[in-house]
Amino acid sequence: MIIVKLGGSIITEKSRYKSFNKNNTLNIVKQLKKLNSKLIIVHGGGSFGHIKSKEYNLPGPVNNKTLEGMSIVHNDMTELNLNISRIFNDNGMHNISIPPSSCIFGGNKNYDIFSKYSDMNLIPVTFGDVYMKDEKNIGIYSGDNLVYDLSRIFKPDYTVFFSDVDGIYDKNPKKYKDAKLLNSISDSFQFENIVDDVTGGIMNKYNIMKKISSLGIKSYIINGLFPERIMDIGSSEFIGTVI
Ligand code: ADP
Ligand code: IPE
Repeated sequence: MIIVKLGGSIITEKSRYKSFNKNNTLNIVKQLKKLNSKLIIVHGGGSFGHIKSKEYNLPGPVNNKTLEGMSIVHNDMTELNLNISRIFNDNGMHNISIPPSSCIFGGNKNYDIFSKYSDMNLIPVTFGDVYMKDEKNIGIYSGDNLVYDLSRIFKPDYTVFFSDVDGIYDKNPKKYKDAKLLNSISDSFQFENIVDDVTGGIMNKYNIMKKISSLGIKSYIINGLFPERIMDIGSSEFIGTVI
């Protein structure tokens, strides 16, 4: 089993509301097919998630505005999910969509349905979603957090995070031309998110990857513009960051 996160930065254009990057997604799906492995797919929100969340003060306390926002963001996320699920299906990778807002409520999480469908050889396709943190607060559950939760349950061989950069750098490569790619991380590095991100951006991703590694599971960040790099995992040719 491999758990794969499709980052919002690669499957959407993050600064243009609801713009789906179909080609990037298709190219990744084609490589995933070649792996011939059991998969769970988690995707982020990108411009289908972060822009409206911010506009409607999410995450935040329940009120008329945030409830409206919850509905809008969830609908937009299911629209993105349908776009992605169809690409998997069109490529012979049959799947089932599982919204986290139906599995998580307050402190209660129940992911049993993932194993049931996976056992039937349907690929679960889930996503960062709005959810009820408790009865008074609406939260946003990031796709990266889901990868951790699912890794604890499924103990995958490894996890892969496709993003729009080659991996983690010593500083933001979008801003600094001299940023250096870190193949693995021992030293500290700087984070600066250019796009407003309601779930913590690369910093949250790094923290999640560290938590996954404490389960004894490796995580790889790969540039989704070069998804074939997934084939080099474990070899000296691999380009990306492993934690
Ligand atoms: P995704 O949407 O793929 O889940 P994020 O947008 O949360 O990923 O994080 C990727 C972005 O983080 C990159 O586009 C990059 O601009 C930004 N970033 C900031 N600091 C760094 C860093 N030190 N190394 C790599 N990326 C960084
Ligand atoms: C965010 O999920 C989902 C919403 C904002 C509803 P992620 O945090 O996993 O999204 P990306 O990958 O950063 O876009």
